[in-house]
Amino acid sequence: METPLTVVVLAAGLGTRMKSRKAKVLHRAGGRYLIEHVLRTARTLAPPERIFVVVGHQSAEVRAAVDTPGIGFIEQSEQKGTGHALMAAADTLSNSGGRLVILYGDCPLVRPETLEGLISAQQSSDASGAILTAVMDDPTGYGRVLRDGDGNVTGVVEQRAGTPEQLAIREANMGLYCYRAAPFWRHIQDLRPDNPAREYYLTDMVEILHRAGHGIAAFRVDDPREVLGINDREELAVVDRLLRARKVRELMLAGVTIEKPETATVDPDVTIGMDTIVEPFVQILGHTTIGENCRIGACSIVQDSELADEVEVGPFTIIGTSRLERGAHAGPYARLRMENHVAAGAHIGNFVELKKTRIGAGSKAMHLAYLGDAEIGPRVNIGAGTITCNYDGTLKHKTRIGSGAFIGSNSTLVAPIEVGDGAYVGAGSVLTKPVPPDSLAVGRAHQIIKEGWARKRRERK
Ligand code: UD1
Ligand code: CA
Repeated sequence: METPLTVVVLAAGLGTRMKSRKAKVLHRAGGRYLIEHVLRTARTLAPPERIFVVVGHQSAEVRAAVDTPGIGFIEQSEQKGTGHALMAAADTLSNSGGRLVILYGDCPLVRPETLEGLISAQQSSDASGAILTAVMDDPTGYGRVLRDGDGNVTGVVEQRAGTPEQLAIREANMGLYCYRAAPFWRHIQDLRPDNPAREYYLTDMVEILHRAGHGIAAFRVDDPREVLGINDREELAVVDRLLRARKVRELMLAGVTIEKPETATVDPDVTIGMDTIVEPFVQILGHTTIGENCRIGACSIVQDSELADEVEVGPFTIIGTSRLERGAHAGPYARLRMENHVAAGAHIGNFVELKKTRIGAGSKAMHLAYLGDAEIGPRVNIGAGTITCNYDGTLKHKTRIGSGAFIGSNSTLVAPIEVGDGAYVGAGSVLTKPVPPDSLAVGRAHQIIKEGWARKRRERK
């Protein structure tokens, strides 16, 4: 681009139609704040130093949600309309020169290619600005694009201000603009709140510049779904679905099988290797990476975790901030709560919960166990019903289980405790003292047998 480009993102409004205590741009779709999507797209056009966000409603929270250093902020302390937001920016930006691209923070789907199209529509004509438009089946709520007999754009009329004839126009203003900075800033103070909403409408700039003799180009996108603005929760859900579908499609084209893809929720930073199968209703969230040839069972949730190749996750399994090495199994119905490491080939079975636990290669905890703050070596067998008592009411304590140990079913390991390599714990034991390597530990009441007792009891009755 031959002249410098400044991007302004409008994000000061509350978004009344969201019916929320949270600013609209802080709602999430496709796994990110709405504002994050727009800023990522802005970053493809300009360096952070040339990107400015107009903030107002909950400005501290919105600033905090913007994690790119260098981006500038402009305060619009009272929100008197989209035009007023630019009036608030005039002090900072009116000498910036070059071109000005204006984006709305509630329009997260727009692709960089489309913005480049908008910018070149302005550059290749001698127009002072270009607006992005789309012909919609139902443009209700959007501004309508007015044209004269020759097809030149003459203005934009808002839903609330339009006559019935104007509202019958199906070409809508999508809220993305590219202006030459000089005429734009020269005329910004001409905006007047002379409309039913008593707002300063940015859209009035089209008519103002047209009247001042400047041409305005329209760049029309074929698919209005790409530039949907979000005003209420229903539109939020529509956009979320479209963003999710984009991600899932990318993965499928890269060799991942996704069964019933419309039910999958995969966050944007997730990576998944070839030939992995994702069953229906799975959520893969945050910075999760999954290797090749894995299977993620139906209805499982995997968050901020790393799964190596060939990992099998059974249905209804929940995994958070954990690492599973090659060929490990978890689930069905397992919960790997946080900071676990499951070594190669280890099995975590149904109704087993792990917290801050490392379990060695080939070890198994197949059913009904709680293993918290535990270091478990390789080739260990953890019987059903084993509990690490890691919490004494005040402090957390560690359990160590050496390689090849066998923990019988229904054992209670009161931490801190250590079970040595190769040791054997009898079922039903409550252990409070260390178990030496290769020993047997049994910590339970002795069994008593009274011959004939039951028969005699029956005969008495
Ligand atoms: C706007 C356009 C409409 C267009 C539609 C596309 C105007 C007047 N109308 O309507 O023509 O069809 O977008 O989606 O521009 N904002 C501020 N400060 C304010 C008011 C709003 O920063 O004082 C921000 C909001 O946070 C939001 C964006 O501007 O991100 C758009 O505002 P919104 O109220 O959603 O405009 P629409 O009514 O959708
Ligand atoms: Ca909007």
